[in-house]
Amino acid sequence: MTNDTGPHTSASTTPPWEAEGAQACESGVLAAMRSAAIKHTMDVIKTSMTGDGSHRDHLVNAERALAELASQSELFGRAAFPAPTDTVDRNFLVSQDDDGTFALYVSTGKPGVVYQPHDHGGTWAAVAAVSGAQHHSFYSTDTGSLERVGSAVCEPGTTVSVPTDGIHSIEGGPDPLVHLHLYGLGFEHQHLRREFDPDTFAERRFRLEDLSFIEDRRPSEVTG
Ligand SMILES: [Fe+2]
Repeated sequence: MTNDTGPHTSASTTPPWEAEGAQACESGVLAAMRSAAIKHTMDVIKTSMTGDGSHRDHLVNAERALAELASQSELFGRAAFPAPTDTVDRNFLVSQDDDGTFALYVSTGKPGVVYQPHDHGGTWAAVAAVSGAQHHSFYSTDTGSLERVGSAVCEPGTTVSVPTDGIHSIEGGPDPLVHLHLYGLGFEHQHLRREFDPDTFAERRFRLEDLSFIEDRRPSEVTG
């Protein structure tokens, strides 16, 4: 699904990282290298992941493989994955099985971007950083209210995971973000995803359009 409002063209509103990326042009060789690396990573994850993602221990191998992919930062440059605008974050789908499982996105977020507490509609998530830092908070509803029970920073060299019943929030650091987000089910299949007001605990259903921009960037040999 694509909901592209397009990059900003006004010099007065274009963030510097957007202008820099807009000038780049990617080679076919690099695109082929990325496709091969992503396929290898997903093969490793599907064969090495233990359990069903209902516990963070199940996701250790997935996190490890995702971190290895994220460390190849040359594969995830601005030429292929443009920076966010002032108002639009970007999620590029780069791999997903036909049944919607094992969905991998390259997400580019603006500095300071905030995603309120949410789950993933009964599926798990793992995140690895290519560049920039995300601050994750983790929550429990065991006491009947939304209680913050932990936190972690996902920056280059580190990963974060959220089990199937997990709730987390994200706040971007001062630098633009390029992160890899892997889900047991892709966004379009997270029908039961919930979001929470961090102050009132008010709950509402996930709206796909809140993610601003999702573009299918899977290689044609996969999508065709
Ligand atoms: Fe999430």
